[in-house]
This record gives sequence, structure tokens and C-alpha cells, in this order.
Amino acid sequence: MIVRQADGGIRAFFNVCPHRANPIALNERGSVAKFTCAFHAWRFCIDGKLDCITDEHSFDTQVVGHRPGLTEARCEQIGGLIFINMDGKAPPLADWIGLPPGYIENYQIDKMHVVRHVRTEWQANWKTGVDAFYETYHLPHIHPQTQGVMEDFSQYDAYPNGFQRMIVPICTPSHRVHDRENVNEGLQYMMIEAGMDPAEFKGTAMEVRVAVQQAKRARAKRLGLDHYDTFTDGQLTDSWATGYFPNVQIGMHPEGVFVMRFQPHPTDPERFFYDNMTLVRYVDDPKYSVPGWMGLPKDTDVTGATRPNIEHHFVGGERADLGDVLNQDVDLVEAVQRGQKSRGFRGPLWSQQESRLRHYQREIDRYINGEK
Ligand SMILES: [Fe+2]
Repeated sequence: MIVRQADGGIRAFFNVCPHRANPIALNERGSVAKFTCAFHAWRFCIDGKLDCITDEHSFDTQVVGHRPGLTEARCEQIGGLIFINMDGKAPPLADWIGLPPGYIENYQIDKMHVVRHVRTEWQANWKTGVDAFYETYHLPHIHPQTQGVMEDFSQYDAYPNGFQRMIVPICTPSHRVHDRENVNEGLQYMMIEAGMDPAEFKGTAMEVRVAVQQAKRARAKRLGLDHYDTFTDGQLTDSWATGYFPNVQIGMHPEGVFVMRFQPHPTDPERFFYDNMTLVRYVDDPKYSVPGWMGLPKDTDVTGATRPNIEHHFVGGERADLGDVLNQDVDLVEAVQRGQKSRGFRGPLWSQQESRLRHYQREIDRYINGEK
């Protein structure tokens, strides 16, 4: 349980009553003055301290004299993201995060709101899931529809402690596209989103990316997007997909972020939960719209006034529609999971375009082998 404190700070607790192990919080989120265990109504303060034991006179003082409260977990924040750690001996978060100083903070995620949260269950190991999102080598083959607006030769950055990043140029046709002159429909759409009129644009398809960057800068102050000053031109258009070791990737954009969390299934190593959280920074301007790449349903409340409930989709239930690209990834990942079991498969052969996977998988191995 992650709990906002009276002083504005945040603490984390294991969601279990110290009395007889009943989970305390049963809802995804909410607000309480005190936590009450449903089993025997023991009460705890929001700082985890014991408030009240029901019929305390029926306990020997040796049993409850230590005033058993909620068990706390390590909890630290950076740039609006909360990290919990169940290993009391872990280094401080700021020392462990291998990303460049200030990189996360510049996005001002603390000024964004969750506007959509979808959790789907996939029939694969969580690492098979992560692998499919750590390279753009597969784009031309699995997601050919991205070719008109996305380059698939990306920059891959490796950082300490398993962190990594992939920078994918957007608002530009892939080098595999023959016509790089005419501005295709996808690029026109991205220009409109940046407040441009494609009919007035005289440049080629290859010049759209820079034009969009300039258009975005030109209107930033008026829209209250002052943090654009802290970004390079590339950060305004491209996908900076950042891997937070071990199981989170965040598509970092100044207007919003797309959080993917790969959560292992508690008992089945060949299942995982894919958590998709879309966060946006609300801009109160009729000419501004949330970027289309976020794939939000039309009626989504982007103001932050209401926090949506998590949409759950389990194996065997109605299939989630995650959009074309992600639907293609679900089919791929589940097939690859089956293929990994084949006697004919002897382990992955990684290219330079898969350097990010190698870096990440090597770090996983360090933990499995006891090197870390
Ligand atoms: Fe994919």
C-alpha cells in the first residue's frame, strides 16, 4: 500500500495485517483516516503505527507489547515516479538509477494525470514481453503501418544497473520508404496536432520532423508548456522509450508519458500482466489535442478531474483492444514464448539493433547467477 502522508510525503507498507495476515486494503485506491482490518477490526494510522487492538485485554502483554504496526517497505520518489523496494539493503534510488541526472525530472511527470489504465494478461513470461518492446528492428515486419511516420533505425543507449533507452525518430518516413518527398497522411496528421496547416507546408516529407519541432516550440509558452526549454528538438517529436530496470518501460514525451509495466504472474511463470498507464499534462486550450499516438478513446477525460478505474482483461475473457500495434505485439509475444520451448532453438542471436536487449538480459543474468 502506498500512502500519502499528512506532511505530503509518501510511505509504503506491505498490505497485510500483523495479527493474522489478512490483507488490509481491498480497493485499488481510496482515502481513509485510519486503516481497519476486516478480520478483527484492528486499526492502524496512515503512518503505519498501531492505533487500536480490539479487546486488547484478551492478549498477554508479551504478545502485543511491541505495538505491532504495518510492516514498512522502502519507498522513494524521483520526478513524480514512486519506487518501492522490499530489500532493506538496496542502495538509495538516486544512486541506483543509471539514467543521466535530471533526465526524468525534466518531463515533470508530477504535473501529469493518469487518464487511462489498462491491465491485460498475456500468456508468456514477463521477460519475453519486455524483449518485444526493446527494439525497433521488428517494426517493418510486424508493424509495417508505422513506416510512413517512424524511422526504425533507432539510437540505443545503455546505462548502469540495467537501465537503457531507445530513441526512435518520429514525424519522418522510414529510410525503407521509397517516396520521401510527398507528405503522407500520417505526417499530415502529426502536423495538424502540432498546430500546423499541412496545406501551407512547402517542404518534403523529410523536412516535416524539423518543422513540427519548430511549430511546437513556437506555441509552447502560450500553452503553458514551459518545460520545452529543457528538451532537445528531438525530444519534442521522437519516442524516447526508457527502460527502468527490470520491468518498466516509459515512453517519455513532454505532453504525456506512456507507462508499460510487465508484472510477473504470482504463480505461473508463463503468464504476466501488462499494465498500460497513459498520463497526460492537461492543456486548457481548444486548439490543443492530446497526441494521437497515445491512442486514447474519444470520450477520455484528459483534465485529470477523475481518475479512471483499471480496465482488466484476463486470459480467456474478452480480449482487450490495445490498438493495432499492441494487438500485433500480443500475438507475436505469445508465439515467441511457445517457440522458446523448442529443442530447435538454441538461444537468441542479437544484432546491434538489439544491443538494448543484450544489456538488459545480461543484468538479469547477474541477479540469477548471484553476481549481484
Ligand atoms: Fe512491437
